[in-house]
Amino acid sequence: MQQKYKIPQIAVMAAALFLAAPIHAQNAPIKVGLMLPATGTFANLGTMIENGFKMYVAEQGGKLGGREIQYFKVDDESDPSKATDNVNKLIKRDQVDVLVGTVHSGVALTMAKVAKENNTLLIVANAGADAITGPMCGKNIFRSSFSNWQPAYAMGKVAADRGHKKVVTITWNYAAGTESVKGFTEGFEAGGGKVSQNLNLPFPNVEFQALLTQIASQKPDAVYAFFAGGGAVKFVKDYAAAGLNKTIPLYGAGFLTDGTLEAQGDSAQGMFTTLHYADNLNIPRDNQFRLNFAKTYKVNADVYAVQGYDAAQMLAAGLKASGGDIKNLDKVSAGIARAEIDSPRGKFKLSASHNPVQDIYLRQVKGNNNEIRGIAVKALADPARGCRM
Ligand code: PHB
Repeated sequence: MQQKYKIPQIAVMAAALFLAAPIHAQNAPIKVGLMLPATGTFANLGTMIENGFKMYVAEQGGKLGGREIQYFKVDDESDPSKATDNVNKLIKRDQVDVLVGTVHSGVALTMAKVAKENNTLLIVANAGADAITGPMCGKNIFRSSFSNWQPAYAMGKVAADRGHKKVVTITWNYAAGTESVKGFTEGFEAGGGKVSQNLNLPFPNVEFQALLTQIASQKPDAVYAFFAGGGAVKFVKDYAAAGLNKTIPLYGAGFLTDGTLEAQGDSAQGMFTTLHYADNLNIPRDNQFRLNFAKTYKVNADVYAVQGYDAAQMLAAGLKASGGDIKNLDKVSAGIARAEIDSPRGKFKLSASHNPVQDIYLRQVKGNNNEIRGIAVKALADPARGCRM
């Protein structure tokens, strides 16, 4: 009797397991690996990206493409020397389905390399490293933010249009800084200006005094700077404390004054910068986003929050296209590539190299806001030099 029932029972159990497996995979949460700085000069930027991402997911009831979202986190410390280990913690140890990050271009370049080697979906939510959507571009590599070239090139055009002829640049000596200066120079010199000197210091140093002395003695028409986060706060304050803001206008890619104004106070007032976001766009999508962000996190949204929010929107678009199947990377990637993202910055689509094609705003600091003064360049696409998909 017993013997008679043993075989069918096993068969039934095996069949149940076999049937359950794909259903389980479909219902399992999607594993999102957040690789962001939680310490160092970019720590606050990482928090804003994470909060923006999570807010969009929360607005969708905690699910994207019908799937719960499960988070895995690594503090990358904005340290390129630890980037391979850190990204492997998410890919190999945690087996995440998608990587989201990071702020620092040097760290992001390694993320892109490892993501490509492992055929893992990557959405870059800040780092502008031109190569990510240039020579390193790939089917599963996306950016919700900008290329370093974009805001910098726009600022170069604006500086030339404002009649400046001779500009000194200053930045950290790493991918984002050098590419930002290069983009600025391209826009500025095409408009008839001349960059007379490039000053720099190692990332993330903030001992600006000797360089400010050089600027004072050079007396350029204007200065272009790329700094961000804690370093941007200190640079803008030191520039004003040296009295330079009275005689030599300071311009920058908008990171110089984004998410930093409360700390910069008087020192930043009146500054012009260019970026793909501003604090008073006054479009319904942005107003609703800013209200919810301020309510949820008790701070005002900034460009980093927008980029995190849009990274989640991009993932949602991919999952929608694949019916929630994150393993079907072809469908997920195609869905992201063709999506129109209803961003708080204004709607955008991705270029063929997967970088946002977006308006770059001219903004001016007033109080704690980067107020829009116009569009520096409309629908600006990164040139994506060297990208072969
Ligand atoms: C970068 O390293 O690409 C970077 C960092 C901070 C920013 C913008 C770009 O605000």
